[in-house]
Amino acid sequence: MSEQKVYPVPANIAANAHVDAATYEAMYRRSVDDPEGFWGEYAEQFVSWFKPWDSVLNYSYQADDLHIEWFKGATLNVTYNCLDRHLETRGDQVAIIWEGDDPNEDRSITYRALHDEVCRLANALKARGVEKGDRVCIYLPMVPEAAVAMLACARIGAVHSIVFGGFSSDSLRDRVLDSECKVVITSDESVRGGRHIPLKRNADTALQECPNVDTVVVVSRTGGAVEWVEGRDIWYHEAIAAADATCEPVEMDAEDPLFILYTSGSTGKPKGVLHTTGGYLLYAAMTHKYTFDYQDGEVYWCTADVGWVTGHTYIVYGPLANGATSLMFEGIPNYPDMSRFWQVVDKHQVNIFYTAPTAIRSLMRAGEEPVKQTSRKSLRILGSVGEPINPEAWEWYYHVVGEERCPIVDTWWQTETGGHLITPLPGATALKPGSATRPFFGVVPALVDPADGTPIEGAGEGALVITRPWPGQMRTVYGDHQRFIDTYFKQYPGYYFSGDGARRDADGDYWITGRIDDVLNVSGHRLGTAEIESALVLHPHVAEAAVVGYPHDVKGQGIYAYVTPMAGVEPTDALKKELVSLVRGEIGPIAIVDLIQWSPSLPKTRSGKIMRRILRKIAANEIDSLGDTSTLADPTVVNELIDGRLNR
Ligand code: WTA
Repeated sequence: MSEQKVYPVPANIAANAHVDAATYEAMYRRSVDDPEGFWGEYAEQFVSWFKPWDSVLNYSYQADDLHIEWFKGATLNVTYNCLDRHLETRGDQVAIIWEGDDPNEDRSITYRALHDEVCRLANALKARGVEKGDRVCIYLPMVPEAAVAMLACARIGAVHSIVFGGFSSDSLRDRVLDSECKVVITSDESVRGGRHIPLKRNADTALQECPNVDTVVVVSRTGGAVEWVEGRDIWYHEAIAAADATCEPVEMDAEDPLFILYTSGSTGKPKGVLHTTGGYLLYAAMTHKYTFDYQDGEVYWCTADVGWVTGHTYIVYGPLANGATSLMFEGIPNYPDMSRFWQVVDKHQVNIFYTAPTAIRSLMRAGEEPVKQTSRKSLRILGSVGEPINPEAWEWYYHVVGEERCPIVDTWWQTETGGHLITPLPGATALKPGSATRPFFGVVPALVDPADGTPIEGAGEGALVITRPWPGQMRTVYGDHQRFIDTYFKQYPGYYFSGDGARRDADGDYWITGRIDDVLNVSGHRLGTAEIESALVLHPHVAEAAVVGYPHDVKGQGIYAYVTPMAGVEPTDALKKELVSLVRGEIGPIAIVDLIQWSPSLPKTRSGKIMRRILRKIAANEIDSLGDTSTLADPTVVNELIDGRLNR
């Protein structure tokens, strides 16, 4: 890769940035050599504590003694940090700009107004019996009430669990049950691309099987018709109107839970990733400020949904802790037309813009014209998240959208990590299209041989692990600590295993190559192959199914299913359609199976294990590099699958 392009840090950005190259080196060195001193100092700078800590960090990454504790003994409240402490200096500054799906709809909410509404909702929840430690499920579209709901929970120490509004009622039910939520906050409908989606109806269906939910708070988004369960359902607007606007923030231990967020893994059902209060908030605030070089007064826009971790950390907690103005967008990139993102940038004079490669790729397909119709002069920094960004999309983003003026921060991280782990800093890092470059402060990544865990030194490729904790790290899987240990700390003892592969070049820059486990990344959304397979085999005509990802131009990865029908069942296109809608119904519209190949049998080892490596190769149309097939029970199966392959 000697011809690799490098874009140096623009001099004007470096001159005014919080962190330039020399500062990065010095801060990084200190964060690694003296982590307790480093994090202690920044914890005082970024977070207002009610009570100081006894110790900065206690941990063990050993599977038989796994624990991670940051700032033990300290107390704080996240909403005091995100709201109260800003009131004196920036009470009238806009905290959230809301841009509706309809370009004619928007709202601006000041820190003072947000504080008022959060306190009211917190009181309304208390009135319904919600106490510290109780779980509250939030199933809302991208409306400001979603941020209010998160903060209202944090105000009183309730633990929120957001379920993305694009998940089905079955997915919602499973998550409500798993975390034993007693309250659900939803809306009558959501609006996307001009279409209305009946969220309340989905919630009603889900809650038929959730006897412990005694309160449903309903935001009136569209005024669409809803069914009403007397005694259980309350309107959001009525509840906050009736509630008092004074609500003292509950004093939380640094290690008290802040939220649960479900995410897909290699096996079984999605797991409830649990984040705690002190370390998470510090990490959210610090990464938001340094990765985006956020400067006071700037308008910052992250296009993610609050249903994903990116929305948690980089729409709500990080920006608000820093007193930023955070834009929240209800709509989609191509409605009313392909120019919408850039129109919103101009309308609200956005300075920092953070989106996903899949959005960039789909906009790139529509050509430069929709971009060029807009000014975008306000833009200073661009960001990318969710999946590897291919160099072609990176270059387009850089040249066409940013007009070669704006550094792109390609931020690698995960639901589990709470915030960015590997990312450029705009004023410090030379950029290489497709590389997430360098670790954030305190993060010590390593590459190990995927087969035997041997550390790889210098340039090379392997499984990406992290060798010690950072404050934003998840602490456990809700209700299943053993699963936390087994998933992340067993495979490579002494390390946190990310599930991703990466390459490190001779300069020490990291290039994420994607998941090396059975997790798919479809349009930046994580899906477990096991979940999709479980949905497929629910169909009475399906005997067996194996799901893999394959390269997809826009989505990054598409879903490829090998399905074995029951004996005597005619494999028809009608059945394919049923299977696609079955999976969609079970998981949600983000899980659309792209290709279904009928497979009279699947390639298995003699012990009966499906050889996914071979299935991935066939789905990717890489049939010349299938590798060793001699361990298969019946090698002829492979030729049959190759003949019938669908992605040619
Ligand atoms: C992938 C989203 C390459 C990766 C924040 C990771 C990325 C998974 C990048 C986590 C990036 C995220 N470059 N790959 N910049 N960012 N990923 O939990 O495979 O929804 O493991 O968190 O997305 O997805 P999650």
